[in-house]
Amino acid sequence: MNIIRTKDYEDMSRKAASIISAQVILKPDCVLGLATGSTPLGTYEQLVEGFNRGDLDFSRVTTVNLDEYCGLPEENEQSYHYFMRQNLFRHINIPEDHTFVPDGMEADSALACQAHEDIIRKLGGIDIQLLGLGNNGHIGFNEPGPVFEKETHPVDLTESTIRANARFFERIEQVPTRAYTMGIKTIMQARRILIIVSGSGKADIVARAFWGPVTPQVPASILQLHPDVTLVADEEALAQVLPLHCYSFSPAALNHLPLQA
Ligand code: F6R
Repeated sequence: MNIIRTKDYEDMSRKAASIISAQVILKPDCVLGLATGSTPLGTYEQLVEGFNRGDLDFSRVTTVNLDEYCGLPEENEQSYHYFMRQNLFRHINIPEDHTFVPDGMEADSALACQAHEDIIRKLGGIDIQLLGLGNNGHIGFNEPGPVFEKETHPVDLTESTIRANARFFERIEQVPTRAYTMGIKTIMQARRILIIVSGSGKADIVARAFWGPVTPQVPASILQLHPDVTLVADEEALAQVLPLHCYSFSPAALNHLPLQA
């Protein structure tokens, strides 16, 4: 795992955007796996700036998003479709039909989830997957549980995630309680993973996820076993771990991981 320690949120966003930009420049028809939430906002702003400067061309890029709430139409301001359009897609030259977010309005969850998996497979897999880190260690909406869920699947969101997401809604009752999310296997199959974390509120979960045991109780801990992960985190988020500037390590692969049957 490569760990890049940054001064603050802005520095984290610039460095994360530089990594994604390098991917787009090196492989103009790459597949980017994208995330929503507050953490990637600065990264998306930087990508838009790179596009406006003429450094980045997204015309051949395809994107697949990690997750979407169930039951919110694309036009709903809280949907992840809407978030992606507002914060990235409408500011760059990516064709709309190159952008894929799970279809949260498809009531048949098996159909919706299989469709998302099929898209990723037909695209030949994800070149780089951007992730944020949930306060409880979730990635996508893979919540702590007894097993690592494998592929795109429906989830009932935990109380802690509903509370964390309530900040985007007027009332907590408006926060959807269900979502479709890429599974841990889907995420782990991305060729590269870029996880970004900022702020002292995440310091404890960063230490548990990347310096603790690999366990489905902390879903992000599985990333320790991916061969090409970069964690870009600011000083506050890394406050409980080694005070080095930039380093890498490869934890020994662990046996007996409780994968879903
Ligand atoms: C969003 C997602 C979530 C967030 C996580 C962190 O697509 O998959 O896992 O990355 O909840 O959210 P923020 O960045 O708002 O702290």
